[in-house]
Amino acid sequence: MNDKYHILLRKQIKKIIGYESDYDLLPAQVKTILDLVNKTYFQNENEKILLGRSIDISSREYKESIEKINKMQAQILSNEKMAGIGQLSAGIAHEINNPLSFVLGNMNMIKKYFVKIKALYELNKELVENYDKCSVEDLKNKVFEISKYIKDNDFDYIAEDLDDVTNDGKEGINRIAKIVKSLLNFARKGYEEEFTRYDINGGIRDTLTIANNAIKYSANVNEELNDVPCVQVIAGQINQVILNLIINATHAIKSKGVLGNITVKTYYDEKYVYCEIADDGCGISEKHINKIFEPFFTTKQVGEGTGLGLSIAHDIIVGKHNGNIEVKSIVGEGTKFIISLPIDR
Ligand SMILES: Nc1ncnc2c1ncn2[C@@H]1O[C@H](COP(=O)(O)OP(=O)(O)OP(=O)(O)O)[C@@H](O)[C@H]1O
Ligand SMILES: [Mg+2]
Repeated sequence: MNDKYHILLRKQIKKIIGYESDYDLLPAQVKTILDLVNKTYFQNENEKILLGRSIDISSREYKESIEKINKMQAQILSNEKMAGIGQLSAGIAHEINNPLSFVLGNMNMIKKYFVKIKALYELNKELVENYDKCSVEDLKNKVFEISKYIKDNDFDYIAEDLDDVTNDGKEGINRIAKIVKSLLNFARKGYEEEFTRYDINGGIRDTLTIANNAIKYSANVNEELNDVPCVQVIAGQINQVILNLIINATHAIKSKGVLGNITVKTYYDEKYVYCEIADDGCGISEKHINKIFEPFFTTKQVGEGTGLGLSIAHDIIVGKHNGNIEVKSIVGEGTKFIISLPIDR
């Protein structure tokens, strides 16, 4: 029976000897060798099928893994965004609470002054309504009573202080309004996924306002924001990058243990708008500087940093916006990050 031999083996033998042989007629020794070769052919065939199947499974698994990774990346990105805002939220509440408590204090002062002013008004009203019915003596007494009341309650001081109290209150309310506006801008832009016109100076100001409480105990911020053209970006993502860089700068200064400086500067040339964020913190060692954009690279304590801030920043600036992010650092002296965003996207 010829068909017990693998078709490829049969074809090969036919090619060599020129015709289809009747294998039963072959000498026993040749048949033994042929049987062995035949077995290998069938084994190979099985292995090929198995390999094909396993490649199939692997490529399906590979596709699933890529999908999983993409999902995880999106999750990490949004977690990181939330973590940034979450970490700041206590500080933001504090920032609002400070002016709020002095506005409340001022309101109480105004209320106290108002009670006195009202009493003075009543005294005055009584005098005005009754002056034609009073004797000169009564009138004198009334006027004396009023001027004594004014003196006893230090109305000169009240008039002056009321001016200060209302001005301070107005300042406090403006401060709260500014924080709330920045927060709204930041939150609203956080949900946008589209490219829109973006004024980087406005984004920087909003970011500094909501990060103020996290920065102010460690660093003074110098703003050197020059007039620059608007760029087309996903605004929330650029704000997130600026926030990450500013928080990193604050941490670098904090680790030095002295009050430091952060300088945020903007400028442009014919192709790019630039934003520099420089600090005089601890700096980055040569050993680490090539790793800082890698995901999960961190020199911070467990729980303090995930090591994702800069890798996300790189992905956003370079991957999504065709821009660039550069770093210059001297250990012990400080670090400067320079972001560039193309004007013509
Ligand atoms: N301005 C800086 N000065 C000194 N070192 C810095 C500065 N910015 C980043 N680094 C170094 O780069 C590392 C990676 O920064 P990255 O922002 O990616 O992560 P992280 O700040 O450690 O954690 P995360 O941002 O996820 O909370 C930091 O741990 C730090 O060692
Ligand atoms: Mg960081």
